[in-house]
Amino acid sequence: MPTFDRYGVFAPVYDVLSAEAPLYRAGRLAGIRVLKPERGSVVLDLGCGTGLNLPLLARAVGPTGLVLGIDSNPRMLAVARRRIAKYPVGRVQLLEADATTLDPERVRRMLTAAKRPPLADGLFASYTLSVIPEFEAAWDATVALVTPGGRLGVVDVQPPRAAPLRPLAAVLPVVFGGADLAAQPWRLLERDATDVVQHTLRDGHVVITAGTRRETVGALPLR
Ligand SMILES: C[S@@+](CC[C@H](N)C(=O)[O-])C[C@H]1O[C@@H](n2cnc3c(N)ncnc32)[C@H](O)[C@@H]1O
Repeated sequence: MPTFDRYGVFAPVYDVLSAEAPLYRAGRLAGIRVLKPERGSVVLDLGCGTGLNLPLLARAVGPTGLVLGIDSNPRMLAVARRRIAKYPVGRVQLLEADATTLDPERVRRMLTAAKRPPLADGLFASYTLSVIPEFEAAWDATVALVTPGGRLGVVDVQPPRAAPLRPLAAVLPVVFGGADLAAQPWRLLERDATDVVQHTLRDGHVVITAGTRRETVGALPLR
């Protein structure tokens, strides 16, 4: 049976229907704040979707930096492509790929073509890992492309503490986005990062976590 292409269908209306302004924008802003990408650095945006992080990351890394958005859905990437059209060629790049089976050579080739070292300086994943059933595989494949000592950030969702937000949180990320509110993908940072900082927004619904990549990552099973 063909699977429902959720993001393909919702791509044109994602920015409007995803409650960006009232619920989720604050999380991505806070996530990039604690990620602290350096000027001139290279940051991977895992599951970049329609590219809502891309201008924010591009601003953080500055004109000498590079942002590479990775997403498996061509229609989400088509929206992202329009969003980044104003940037000089090469400063914000997009790669269509399933992160769970990512060929690292494709990313290395893009970085090398952009005259960058073959490993990125940072990895950011907002509202992405909870929608990927095999999120650990997606994370492992991309975190392996970040230099030891690089910055790692995850912004994702869990059930809110307060009752008023619960119906909205159950409908939007779960029904619309296909998220698993029990996934807790930020635990990957407890495994793969040091200096981990974490806080929540929206009554605990949005969890913001960042840290510094350890020398060895993905060595221990999460569960
Ligand atoms: C809820 S959206 C989040 C988009 C964006 N990060 C944001 O903050 O708005 C989840 C994104 O993950 C992408 N995605 C899902 N599974 C993926 C996979 N295996 N590899 C790469 N991207 C994936 C979807 O296509 C979608 O664009």
